[in-house]
Amino acid sequence: MSSKKKYAKESCVTKTELVLPNDTNTLNNLMGGRLMHWMDIVSAISAQKHSNRIVVTASVDNVSFKKAIRLGNVVTLKAHVTRSFNSSMEVAIEVWAEDIPLGQRIESNQAFFTFVAVDQLGKPVDVPELVPETDKEKQLYQGALRRRQLRLVLAKRMAPEDAKELKSIFNMT
Ligand SMILES: CC(C)(COP(=O)(O)OP(=O)(O)OC[C@H]1O[C@@H](n2cnc3c(N)ncnc32)[C@H](O)[C@@H]1OP(=O)(O)O)[C@@H](O)C(=O)NCCC(=O)NCCS
Repeated sequence: MSSKKKYAKESCVTKTELVLPNDTNTLNNLMGGRLMHWMDIVSAISAQKHSNRIVVTASVDNVSFKKAIRLGNVVTLKAHVTRSFNSSMEVAIEVWAEDIPLGQRIESNQAFFTFVAVDQLGKPVDVPELVPETDKEKQLYQGALRRRQLRLVLAKRMAPEDAKELKSIFNMT
């Protein structure tokens, strides 16, 4: 990790989209793939703002869609970096939809994306340390190490016995 430090709020990115006919399936609901595309873009920009580097998507944690988002809804996506490690950063993203004429707001989903900062040759490079300030940012920061170990174990990039934060989950001694 580089010696530089940055606040979580410096990586905040918000994107708003209007769901148009070309974004929907035959039921007039927003297609999941289109939403994932928007989520990837907004969270990548957030990781770029933290690292001031080119970033690549390394992984996306489980994403589930709670409620359908309808044609004509306005979708808001909000992302910020929760924690950085060496070259990688975890980004939390929240998505909600609004039916503005009806005055209704739907909580759609939340997800964690992991990005890796790379140089022009695609080689990972160190990123600044993240400093959480608010209670929510501190809570996300604390959980990020556990989530990192879980995703690296699932990706077979870490041996379960090395995942010290997961001992209670896997009941290891
Ligand atoms: C992500 C990538 C740069 C990692 O490169 P690598 O040579 O395997 O590098 P390393 O093993 O040194 O890992 C670098 C970092 O990536 C993280 N990482 C690698 N795979 C990961 C995964 N599946 N989930 C989360 N983090 C991952 C490592 O934990 C490490 O983080 P750290 O530096 O903070 O400790 C490389 O796998 C890559 O370019 N993947 C393709 C990315 C891409 O094209 N995305 C778009 C998909 S279409």
